[in-house]
Amino acid sequence: MTTPNNLPAEVSSFVGREQPLADLRKLLHKSRLVTLTGPGGAGKTRLAQRVAAEVLDRYPDGVWLVELAAVTDARLLEQTVASVCGIREHRRRPLLEVITKAMATRHVLLILDGCEHLVDPSADLVSRLQRACSRLSVMITSREPLGLSGEVIWRVPSLTVPATAAGQRPELLLQSEAVRLFIERARLSRPALELDAYSSPAVAQICIRLEGIPLAIELAAGLARVLTFEDILARLHDRFRLLTGGSRTALPRHQTLRAAVDWSFGLLSLDERELLVRLSVFAGGFDLAAAEAIAADDSLEPGEVLLLLSRLVDKSLVVAEEGGSQRTRYRMLDTIREYALEKLQPGAEAAIRRRHCLYFVDLCQRAHAELRSHDQVNWLKRLDDEQGNIRLALEWSIAEAPVEALRLAGAMDRYWYMRGHIAEALDWLDRALASSEGDAAVRAAAYLARAHMRWMQGDYEAANADAQTSAKLCRELGPSQTLFIAVTLLAIVRASKGDWVAAGQMHDEAFQIAWQLQEAWFVGSALNNLGLIAMERGDHEVARGRLDQALAGFRLAGDRFISAPTLDSLARVNQKLGDHGAARANFLEALTISTEFADAFNVALVLDGLAQLEVEVGKPERTIQLSSAAETLRKTVGTELTPEWKRPADVALTAARSKLSSDAADAAWRRGAGMNLEAAVRFAMGTSERPAKENGSPLTARERQVALLIAEGLTNGEIAGRLKMAGRTADAHVEHIRNKLGLRTRSQIAVWAHERLGTA
Ligand SMILES: Nc1ncnc2c1ncn2[C@@H]1O[C@H](COP(=O)(O)OP(=O)(O)OP(=O)(O)O)[C@@H](O)[C@H]1O
Ligand SMILES: [Mg+2]
Repeated sequence: MTTPNNLPAEVSSFVGREQPLADLRKLLHKSRLVTLTGPGGAGKTRLAQRVAAEVLDRYPDGVWLVELAAVTDARLLEQTVASVCGIREHRRRPLLEVITKAMATRHVLLILDGCEHLVDPSADLVSRLQRACSRLSVMITSREPLGLSGEVIWRVPSLTVPATAAGQRPELLLQSEAVRLFIERARLSRPALELDAYSSPAVAQICIRLEGIPLAIELAAGLARVLTFEDILARLHDRFRLLTGGSRTALPRHQTLRAAVDWSFGLLSLDERELLVRLSVFAGGFDLAAAEAIAADDSLEPGEVLLLLSRLVDKSLVVAEEGGSQRTRYRMLDTIREYALEKLQPGAEAAIRRRHCLYFVDLCQRAHAELRSHDQVNWLKRLDDEQGNIRLALEWSIAEAPVEALRLAGAMDRYWYMRGHIAEALDWLDRALASSEGDAAVRAAAYLARAHMRWMQGDYEAANADAQTSAKLCRELGPSQTLFIAVTLLAIVRASKGDWVAAGQMHDEAFQIAWQLQEAWFVGSALNNLGLIAMERGDHEVARGRLDQALAGFRLAGDRFISAPTLDSLARVNQKLGDHGAARANFLEALTISTEFADAFNVALVLDGLAQLEVEVGKPERTIQLSSAAETLRKTVGTELTPEWKRPADVALTAARSKLSSDAADAAWRRGAGMNLEAAVRFAMGTSERPAKENGSPLTARERQVALLIAEGLTNGEIAGRLKMAGRTADAHVEHIRNKLGLRTRSQIAVWAHERLGTA
């Protein structure tokens, strides 16, 4: 499957829903905005994920699932969507503009999951996006529709239940989805379980009683380990009789679920209940270490947490799954979390929230250092997983513990920088710095983080002011990492004004600080900056020496991420020195690293660098193709080249064009434009198949036929019909074409076919 997507692997089996899935597939064809509604636990999220997986092929530019439960602040909505879709902030441009630009012409399916607490902001975002992006489809799951015109509201039905409980044969009962779900889940604790004539009536009645609501059925099945089906049913009856005053009329669906949740909560041991309630403070899940540190106290030993947690998992109250950093993560379904949160006593809540905050302050402080080390990729993913919790800790501490807010925001600097979450970072930092608390070291770090973000945003004046404040605060405390970076930023701002002499002096001072700190990374960083100054002066030999040493420092520290820009600079210096072989090797290594971090923006910069090299070595076609691929990549992440970078890129492009016929140049440009990140990287590395000559192509005769039909705008089904082949065969041909050509979208294949196979 070539569609980029972030759909999670299913952690439990999926039952039934054939007709709803078919209906939804059709609906998505007709409408660009479909909202799945229904009460909590009705199966909206599960169904949306399933249907998205089935229609991946229709959205070659991406299928992105944005989970909103952990996003409580509407201001973070755009940021969350952008980061899920791999779109990067760009200088001071409003994020919405960047997103719309990146998605303007792309076939994307965006799924906003769990919008009920953000109905208005979600509606606003979706309508703006869809107005600007004509090929963007959106699927919403929400207990409440968005209320937009053009929104197709689709109520998620209950699972089918048996018509009657009595006298049904087990195999007939199993035709009902609810019964199948019940049995599947009960088997998790009793693998040998079979539905027989004896147990059938009780199971059928449980499913009818619970009205086919998937979550309610999972909760009931979770009791199968300790109770017989008869027992489950008897207790359920008691519970519901109380609620309906003994009448047989059904409750509204949301009350049925509420009753089922209440009931399964009531059957937990006191310890299990206590743990579940405490775990509701997490946003976006947690791992075992966090649960032990935060949920345990005098009344609940850390050593007990795992056992209790596994019992909650057995009972479907907590879900276990694999997180991005390969650690097991736990999470509660939204309905359960809301229920448990209501039970948290205000007195207990304050203490737990404090522990939650302190835990994440500590984690982020460790991450701050680890993100420069050998283990940086893992830590990056770990912090990706913990975004919900970190935001929660920031929000809480800004109101309740301002010093912790400053610590946390200061420690997040590196992560925000590496992921490019600038607007969000500035928002938190402004709010944290609004308090006047904290000692010099804490405030200096927070000011520095803000200086860093403002610099990334291109606001050099504001960056300078914050870096000054930070340097002033920490200068008195002796050499420190904070002081090093503050002085470095001040130098960079000077350099941006053309004051190279002052900049050089300040980088020298930073070098002295790094030397005193005896930290390889910081020495490396100072040498890198001194190397750039030498480069600017045209002192290429000196620059090469310093950049080489800088690289050695970063390697020693283990920071691959930061090596990429240094390698890129080194490549450019080597190129100036006429050492094309070394330059190419540097560029390719930078490319490998940026690809590893999925950093499309840097990949594009390196492609531009290589493009400039190729024209010097007499390969103008490659120059054009690489420049064009870089330009396309920038569009997909929503960024542009700054004027300093654009100038040399344009010079190389003009030189390359002057060496080719305009047809050949245009063809090279089109080939580059049709490349996605992987194809562009392969081409740059020289590992892709050489672009085919006019009379030949890497495709078989049959694949060429298929490509031509794609160019005519036919769907896979229509192609199958036209060529009299099975649908699956057509799918396979399309897949082969994509892989062989390294192309992603049908429109890219169409361009290719027009260009290479000579269609009209
Ligand atoms: N067709 C199905 N097959 C198997 N399990 C299902 C199915 N539908 C739902 N479930 C399970 O039921 C539970 C509730 O489903 P889900 O989380 O999709 O509900 P929801 O409507 O999104 O609830 P909420 O409003 O709380 O977000 C989940 O554990 C889910 O895996
Ligand atoms: Mg949901």
